Amino acid sequence: MMLKSERIETKSAQELELMRRAGAVVAQALRATAAAAVAGASTADLDKIAAAEIRRRGAKPAFLGYRGYPAVLCASVNEELIHGIPRASRVLKDGDVVGLDLGAVVEGFYGDAALTVAVGKVGEKSRRLMATALEALEKGIAKARVGARVGDISAEIQRVCEAGGCSVVREYSGHGIGRALHESPDIPNHGRPGTGPRLLPGMTLAIETMVNAGGPEVRTLEDGWTVVTADGSLSAHFEYTVLVRDGEPQILTPWQDILC
Ligand code: MF3
Ligand code: CO
Repeated sequence: MMLKSERIETKSAQELELMRRAGAVVAQALRATAAAAVAGASTADLDKIAAAEIRRRGAKPAFLGYRGYPAVLCASVNEELIHGIPRASRVLKDGDVVGLDLGAVVEGFYGDAALTVAVGKVGEKSRRLMATALEALEKGIAKARVGARVGDISAEIQRVCEAGGCSVVREYSGHGIGRALHESPDIPNHGRPGTGPRLLPGMTLAIETMVNAGGPEVRTLEDGWTVVTADGSLSAHFEYTVLVRDGEPQILTPWQDILC
């Protein structure tokens, strides 16, 4: 989502505690959802699991009703990049890749994260795409250090993706997060080092890679939400909410064990 430039908030220790709680709920809900992403399951089944996991931990789903979004989870299959609306008729099959994206709110503070998982056995092309998009996220996050600029993150994501033979999407960006799902700054997947806002301790960022195996162009389906690649190529999406602090950035939505 694109925002105009506004002041970037930093969060207090108490606020970060709530964001850690929201982030832990997000990670747990992603874990359960990813485990259920098997051949024969529908994306509506995954949405129900995500909703139950979030609610039984006393949190609220962040996406449901956001600008009219009709579900808890975004489940984006194959050429679908982001914002896939779960439905009972969308049944996963062996060889699919599915992006799972969800958010949770705890006492007014947000967590947001996503990953793309393989359903059964997927081809080499899919595995390479997913590995590249994840590597770009990890290396982009490593640039999120005090004194660096947003463009350092963006440029690194673009560099890794293009070195891997993939393209980055221009129309959507990562974002600040905290009291709202989307705060300043925008964090594009492309850019130049040394440009953009400077990072300060206490800033919380949802960094996301949106990566296509083919060209970078995307379009939105008639449902008004589902974003697909224009050329029908595969796409992948990974996201963590992270805290900028002295030293290494901290991941507030720790789902990394899911892929091990
Ligand atoms: N992670 C996505 C984002 O930051 C999810 C938004 S889906 C919506 O834009 F339904 F909440 F819009
Ligand atoms: Co996001």
